[in-house]
Amino acid sequence: MPMTPTLPNLERFPRLRLGGLPTDLEPMPRLSANLGGPRLWVKRDDLAGLGGGNKARPLEYLMADAQARGARRVVTFAGSGQSNHLRATAMAARRLGIEPILVVFDAPPAEAVQGNALITRVLDARVLYLGWLGKADPNRTIEASIRLMAMLATTYPPLTGRHRYVIPVGCFSPLGALGYAAAAAELTAQADTLGIALDYVVTAAGTGATAAGLLAGFRALGRPTRVIAIDVGRLWKNLAASIVGLANRTLRLLDLPAPLTLSDLGFYANFVGTGYGEPTRAGLDALRQAARTEGLMLEPVYTAKALAGLVALCRAGHFQPSHNIVFLHTGGAPALYAYRDFLQS
Ligand SMILES: Cc1ncc(COP(=O)(O)O)c(C=O)c1O
Repeated sequence: MPMTPTLPNLERFPRLRLGGLPTDLEPMPRLSANLGGPRLWVKRDDLAGLGGGNKARPLEYLMADAQARGARRVVTFAGSGQSNHLRATAMAARRLGIEPILVVFDAPPAEAVQGNALITRVLDARVLYLGWLGKADPNRTIEASIRLMAMLATTYPPLTGRHRYVIPVGCFSPLGALGYAAAAAELTAQADTLGIALDYVVTAAGTGATAAGLLAGFRALGRPTRVIAIDVGRLWKNLAASIVGLANRTLRLLDLPAPLTLSDLGFYANFVGTGYGEPTRAGLDALRQAARTEGLMLEPVYTAKALAGLVALCRAGHFQPSHNIVFLHTGGAPALYAYRDFLQS
């Protein structure tokens, strides 16, 4: 029996069970054959808790911290009312009897709400649309944006008040990143049980918190698995450096050495297309390919672009046929229905 890999010092941090973990690791033999190798797998975090997707794991740690601090309101931020992060945070808050306050840097939707925005309405989360503040500024680093948002939460009257817990955009913090550091251990245990080497994990990157957690996790475990982040939105300046920086801060939070540099991360920004939330031809092709070969549903904003990146890397001969590559399915299904016009063929 292989030893269960454990992340040093992780048990020091309180954690709530919100994610329905572990999620399955499934082979994708037909997609692999279509691409002529390598061996592709999918980690089904789309089936994680809180409506699915990659926010359940970080929220297990962040909401435990909120609860420990006696929070009665949780405030978080996103660029769009269609955000998976807002929906998952609001679900977690309701589950714990905490009031969710969601700040959107966009105007209120002109059309009938749907997808995640509809779910947050049913949850009766308070949503503040601050379109006047502008969308994410690609000339600003994510760290600078998070500082601005934190300042907003302490000065903007509807957000101030006691017993309030602020969760950064995308759960981008060392505590949030522990969720995917722990996922690295979960994946490693699954690979060990299957008797395979885990060569690469490929994930979509919006804020990069997920990629940072994975990067920190594999380093903390002393495993050579490489993390590839596919930028889906070019939302922030120096995203790769932010990911590596957050991974190092996460290692420090675990009282471990933090030696990661840019060369430790695979990072691709050439699958974004025209911008965040704008579907790409390659992404829609990848989405259909995953659906038609593996019965796996992606969505155009995150996972389709990430798989388009993986497909392009396979076609470019980036991997060896014997490599095991895990595609992290980060969820996002509710947004699919907002893109019906792109998907009707
Ligand atoms: C479905 C989905 N995939 C990927 C991401 C990107 O995750 P991260 O912000 O951790 O890079 C998000 C972020 O909201 C998401 O909703």
